[in-house]
Amino acid sequence: MAEDKVHVSAAGHNLAPQPTERPTEIARPIIEVAHLHKAYGATVAVDDVSFTVQHGEIFGILGPNGAGKTTTVECLSGLRVPDGGTIGVLGLDPQRDRHALRGLVGVQLQEGSMPPKLTVWELIDLFASFYGNPADAGELLDLLGLTAKRGAYYKRLSGGQKQRVSIALALIGNPKVAILDELTTGLDPQARRETWGLIEGVRDRGVTIVLVTHFMDEAERLCDRVALIDSGRVIAIDTPVGLAEREGGGNHMRFHPSRPVDDALLTALPQVDQLEHQGDRIVVSGSGDLLNAVISALATADTEAKDVQLQSATLEDAFVRLTGRRSENSEQDGQR
Ligand SMILES: Nc1ncnc2c1ncn2[C@@H]1O[C@H](COP(=O)(O)OP(=O)(O)OP(=O)(O)O)[C@@H](O)[C@H]1O
Ligand SMILES: [Mg+2]
Repeated sequence: MAEDKVHVSAAGHNLAPQPTERPTEIARPIIEVAHLHKAYGATVAVDDVSFTVQHGEIFGILGPNGAGKTTTVECLSGLRVPDGGTIGVLGLDPQRDRHALRGLVGVQLQEGSMPPKLTVWELIDLFASFYGNPADAGELLDLLGLTAKRGAYYKRLSGGQKQRVSIALALIGNPKVAILDELTTGLDPQARRETWGLIEGVRDRGVTIVLVTHFMDEAERLCDRVALIDSGRVIAIDTPVGLAEREGGGNHMRFHPSRPVDDALLTALPQVDQLEHQGDRIVVSGSGDLLNAVISALATADTEAKDVQLQSATLEDAFVRLTGRRSENSEQDGQR
């Protein structure tokens, strides 16, 4: 299919007119996806995906391998033609208004291809020339730790360095929307954390960001909201904390009661969903301000909670409960 031939290196050849921002448009979502559907032959990659992204948000897309994340963001970028549904990016259609959107949307693809015989600086400089208002290339290289490699051929870079170049190329045009597919995959832990700071800086300059990630810690740190996609469908959208609380199986509090207590004292609390005895310890699971509710209830029976341990539900817990699988980087994340 024709759209399969488009690579990241082809992006941005047209200088796009900068749209004038009218106050009436401010409340409108920057990105609106409704009932997106895309199949590759018999494989339904995206079945029915809908979401909106507000101005200035970092919106995460999470999900197991093959869930349809890359296909979704490729449709958003105009690199793939959807079979059904509608997409609006800055009020424009990625297919119909493809040329106008090129200067406004920066894309970092999971598997981009680059001309190998250019140096890092030549690549950045070439991409900068596609845009009317490019970012400062030297500053960007500095931020991404690529200054020492500016004279190196792209093909001689390590995987992580190539990844950084692709991030630089997504940002060099000073886009209004940046679409980043597996932004930090292949980077070492230190570089990942530095990249997060960079992305927050980009967001603070008013860029709306769509971020596909397999790292739960990355989503928790960066994303204002996340969509969890499985088998081509959105199965949950919320803030990372909201998703963890709502779908992560609740928070847990373990303690030794200073004297035996009647379970009913605690199970009657609206914050408590479950109570379990582990030897002489009590484990209550629930939501809201579990700690204070339990301590106050115990106090009415002249009982204290000793050796208290609290465990909050994480995004990884929600991911596991909703998809039935652990996230790809759960061990690297240090998550339970
Ligand atoms: N060009 C293609 N031709 C045929 N099938 C494809 C193509 N690209 C993706 N698919 C299939 O579509 C489905 C969704 O793929 P997609 O790349 O969107 O998933 P993903 O969520 O990004 O996965 P990952 O986490 O592994 O990157 C998969 O079953 C995949 O095999
Ligand atoms: Mg992908």
